[in-house]
Amino acid sequence: MEKATHALVIGGTGMLQHVCHSLVNDYSYVSVVGRSTIRHQQLKYANPSPDKINSIIVDYHDSSLFREKLQSAFLAYGAPDLVISWIHGTAPQALHTLFNEIQKLAIETKWKLFHVQSSSRYFAKENTPVPDNCQYRRVYLGFILNGRSSRWLTDPEISGGVLHAIKSDQQQTIVGTIDPWDQRPR
Ligand SMILES: NC(=O)c1ccc[n+]([C@@H]2O[C@H](COP(=O)([O-])OP(=O)(O)OC[C@H]3O[C@@H](n4cnc5c(N)ncnc54)[C@H](OP(=O)(O)O)[C@@H]3O)[C@@H](O)[C@H]2O)c1
Repeated sequence: MEKATHALVIGGTGMLQHVCHSLVNDYSYVSVVGRSTIRHQQLKYANPSPDKINSIIVDYHDSSLFREKLQSAFLAYGAPDLVISWIHGTAPQALHTLFNEIQKLAIETKWKLFHVQSSSRYFAKENTPVPDNCQYRRVYLGFILNGRSSRWLTDPEISGGVLHAIKSDQQQTIVGTIDPWDQRPR
């Protein structure tokens, strides 16, 4: 019997919904983090295989509850092979909580993290320390430039860009553009 695979999408009930639906085709289980029960239900029942979606209803600012919920999900479905993370900058500790919980179960098994970040973070050139067995990929969300006008990305463009990043597996992906920065939408 093939080993069950597990993907985790933090912030998956919003603009990354399409990413969750697509991952259901490739992974045995997809766990999704978000606070709103209604948004979770909408995501789950929009999918032809709702049983493959595990809703993790939690605020990632609450580190101890977030840790508990991750532990339960990993106990049920195994440590994730793939994580897509869209975490607002107000919860800098959330990724560390995730790393600790994965390390408890999978200290040697390789897993992949797609860290989705806003365009403003591009210029910070951050170094994100990750565990040795984590293959880190950064995805910046840029904007669309149309001649002299510009606009932010739509949800389908964001999900499509993240799925492309997963498929192409580059160290860094920019969805849309970040250049020229002074022509970004205001
Ligand atoms: N460069 C760009 O063009 C760009 C970049 C970023 C965003 N945007 C646009 O801006 C819109 C709004 O952005 P958004 O960040 O609100 O994205 P979103 O994807 O619509 O929502 C954020 C996701 O994270 C979850 N979430 C938020 N806070 C959370 C918390 N404290 N704990 C757990 N889960 C949490 C949300 O669910 P809950 O609210 O239920 O918790 C949801 O799943 C998006 O629709 C997108 O199109 C554009």
